[in-house]
Amino acid sequence: MRRAAVIGVAVAALAAVYASAKQGAPRSGLPARFGLGRAATAAEIKAWDIDVMPDGDGLPPGSGTPAGGAKIYARQCAACHGPSGTEGPFDRLVGRDRAPGRTIGNYWPYATTLYDYIHRAMPLGAPGSLTPDEVYGLVAYLLWRNEIIEETAVIDGRTLPGVVMPARDRFVVDDRRGGPEIR
Ligand code: HEC
Repeated sequence: MRRAAVIGVAVAALAAVYASAKQGAPRSGLPARFGLGRAATAAEIKAWDIDVMPDGDGLPPGSGTPAGGAKIYARQCAACHGPSGTEGPFDRLVGRDRAPGRTIGNYWPYATTLYDYIHRAMPLGAPGSLTPDEVYGLVAYLLWRNEIIEETAVIDGRTLPGVVMPARDRFVVDDRRGGPEIR
């Protein structure tokens, strides 16, 4: 998830530059607008609006099963994550035991994040290329491989938020108040 964090920092930096440029008094001699760019269309904004929240808000229509996802996984993921999700060479995705390393089964607190992350970031060389049905299939396959759902389960926008992850209780919501709050 490091890349997501880097993008987040870049967006925050851009937002800060934009906010300070907007608030600062217009510098003498400079026009209010430079005439660069144009307003984003509703379709363009929709294409960027892909986040899926822990409660499932943002999940698109579509569905998938472990069996369907297995075929896509073999073609598009196994080379980097191993034929069974454990061999690598990159991140191990499957495993309920705590060692070695973090997996979906021992670390991820929300099943819905799998949809968000796979759709947003995988496969590494072609992020965003998977259809909703393909992503739901991959999510179903990985949840099944981690022994979290049955092999016959159908994963969609209704069932995915109901999947309770084994690591759910290893995380707590930061509900401290009285200091700066970052949301
Ligand atoms: C070319 C290699 C490559 C391919 C192909 C690939 N991945 Fe990945 N995957 C990575 C790398 C590298 C990371 C770690 C990225 C990071 O930490 O920023 C990763 C991370 C992940 C993670 C997060 C692991 C964690 O616990 O943080 C998931 C889930 C995942 N990949 C799923 C998939 C799926 C599903 C596919 C197939 C559609 C896929 N990957 C295809 C290289 C790949």
